[in-house]
Amino acid sequence: MSQRLVTSSDDSRIELCPAEISPQRLPAHVAVIMDGNGRWAQSRGLPRVMGHRAGVEALKATLRRCSNWGVKALTAYAFSTENWSRPGDEVNFLMTLFERVLERELQALEAERVRIRFLGDLEPLPARLQSLIQEATKRTASNDGIHFNVCTNYGGRHELVLAARRLAERAASGELDPSEIDEQTLAGELFTAGEIDPDLLIRTSGEHRISNFLLWQLAYAEIHVTDVLWPDFDREALVRAFLDYQSRTRRFGGLVV
Ligand code: FPP
Repeated sequence: MSQRLVTSSDDSRIELCPAEISPQRLPAHVAVIMDGNGRWAQSRGLPRVMGHRAGVEALKATLRRCSNWGVKALTAYAFSTENWSRPGDEVNFLMTLFERVLERELQALEAERVRIRFLGDLEPLPARLQSLIQEATKRTASNDGIHFNVCTNYGGRHELVLAARRLAERAASGELDPSEIDEQTLAGELFTAGEIDPDLLIRTSGEHRISNFLLWQLAYAEIHVTDVLWPDFDREALVRAFLDYQSRTRRFGGLVV
């Protein structure tokens, strides 16, 4: 929270793609489950919420690295539909944190040509956050840089239910013939419509779960799990994730020939 994207003194702003990573085989779209903020803080004797604050710094550095190295889209799981069940103080802290981050970083995101979008059911969010989201989305919509998707009040099952409902409505109104519904039609009703599917999913803090994240979109993603807690996710951790990704043979259900 202390540094702005533009004025940041960390090295991620000017870094080029590390030599050990093949720029031709970069994941075009990286998705991240930023887990371990609470544990990071608790292990330092700090309140859990300080971990979320540190997590923002890790996210900013990861976004800039992905952008500098040539990744086209970064999608981060910031708040799930299940996260409302956390203690009220933590939920309020997170909502205020999202507002502050947007207020402070919008200019920098614009300057760095980032296109930001918030994916999820945004209506239950505080009104002030909703209007900041609208402004950020509008002001960066025509940017030609990295696509930065922040999943907020996002749940993969809920997203699929909304898509099914929308397709049913379109069919009921006669706009859509049910027999013409295919994967593309359904994908077009998801929050991620128009975005390519993630190639790589990174999950920090050692949990081997998808946790209701991008259930449809992750169908063929390579999964990299690291024990690193999200606030400690640095350049080295990102390089390791990309090297792991580049060591995989992607078959998409077919055979290697
Ligand atoms: C999971 O750690 C992390 C979250 C629920 C919040 C992550 C949000 C951010 C880093 C802020 C992003 C903000 C914007 C606007 C881009 P956890 O609390 O589940 O950690 P634990 O597993 O150790 O308890």
